[in-house]
Amino acid sequence: MKERGGAEPFKIKMVEPVGLTTKAQREEILKKAGYNQFRIPAEYVYIDLMTDSGTSAMSDNQWAGIMMGDESYAGARNFYHLRDTVREIFTYEYVIPTHQGRAAENILMSAVLWPGKYVLGNMFFDTTEAHIAHKGCKGVSFMIPEAYDTQSTHPFKGNVDVVRLEEFIRKEGASKVGMIIITVTCNNNGGQPVSMENVRQVSAVARKYGIPLFFDSARFAENCYFIKKREAGYGDRSILEIANEMFSYGDGATCSAKKSALVNIGGFLAMNSKELYDKCLEYLVLFEGFATYGGLAGRDLEAMARGLREGLDEAYLEDRIGQVEYLASALMEAGASVVLPPGGHAAYVDCKKTVPHLSWDKFPADSLGVALYLDCGVRTVGLGALAFAEKDPVTGEWVPPELELLRLAVPRRVYTDRHMNVVAEAMGRVLKRPEQIRGLRLVKEPARLRHFLSELEPI
Ligand code: F0G
Repeated sequence: MKERGGAEPFKIKMVEPVGLTTKAQREEILKKAGYNQFRIPAEYVYIDLMTDSGTSAMSDNQWAGIMMGDESYAGARNFYHLRDTVREIFTYEYVIPTHQGRAAENILMSAVLWPGKYVLGNMFFDTTEAHIAHKGCKGVSFMIPEAYDTQSTHPFKGNVDVVRLEEFIRKEGASKVGMIIITVTCNNNGGQPVSMENVRQVSAVARKYGIPLFFDSARFAENCYFIKKREAGYGDRSILEIANEMFSYGDGATCSAKKSALVNIGGFLAMNSKELYDKCLEYLVLFEGFATYGGLAGRDLEAMARGLREGLDEAYLEDRIGQVEYLASALMEAGASVVLPPGGHAAYVDCKKTVPHLSWDKFPADSLGVALYLDCGVRTVGLGALAFAEKDPVTGEWVPPELELLRLAVPRRVYTDRHMNVVAEAMGRVLKRPEQIRGLRLVKEPARLRHFLSELEPI
């Protein structure tokens, strides 16, 4: 494996032991967990690449902020710090704190959607799609064709297909479209960025038809970093300036602060319209809490305000995105086919290509994930048929999703490149003996959220 030059732009002040287990123990643990990685207690996980959400290491500055938490019910000073920070980065006037991203989605959608509306965008994250459906609406995805080609090296595979988007609006009528959401970066196809040009074009369409445009901004800082590195005209701009421009094209944003904002819990909703803000406040009080804490402690608001600013630091972003790239190339060297170009928060293994001997109904992504856990205790998440297959309403048959991916998400500031080496070496060992990846079958199948709750067994 070709090592990265330089070193992390931080030093380590506190350490946390990791779960070391033997292969025999892991065999037992998997059996008890029904071969579902969500059911494995974290203490038995050596390197946890299940998600980059809420798993960041906070800085000394954030921990110091925790001690500055003002736990007043109303008007805590940390709220004003958060509000001013969001205003400065996102350019939006009104800020509503929430306990995490999906709570912001719930409030926004409760305020702007009613049954029968469409929500258009690039690709919606599961919770976004679920909230759209919960309001009796339908999410429709308009991705550029390269988005689904795991080997295309298009620099902005999160882009919206603006032509098809506008055609849809013209055909259905703008009044049927509740809003447009651009997810930056686009998690579902590999943490792929959206270009500034594309945001500008989508914004022009949204404004032409009077449709609100919101960002799902969970990984906005990584998206801005990719714009700086890959889009002409942005090389000399700071991440803050790029974020300001990007958000200026929209009307507001939901944010899961558990990603780019480097906190373990938190989120917010921000917007320019006072009228919408007032409507959202009613739902905030109903679902989350009062306007200045929204389901969080004052200390959480402070950690979030500080994390938002730290997340813009270029040395940090270069190191972080460099580590994801490093993992992706090490996995390729180990024989895996990886989604290209590597995204901002995870390496995604294309399991149709990497374990081609397994048909989709044997859950290739989850089977490979289980094999990796068994080999060295690394935990990942399958994003394929187990998670996303849908039952055809007419025939009742399961229809697999287009992509069968195994996501190896990299928590921020948590693991070193040596951890990444361990993961890649495990992948190499596992892929050398494909006959031992035999696939999984369901033994207990919940009606919904199969990948979180189901129990399986090896075939
Ligand atoms: N939007 C995107 C793009 C996300 O990736 C997530 C969460 C959310 C919204 C919801 O935010 O978890 O704070 O309520 N993604 C996590 C993941 C869970 O593992 O990708 P939340």
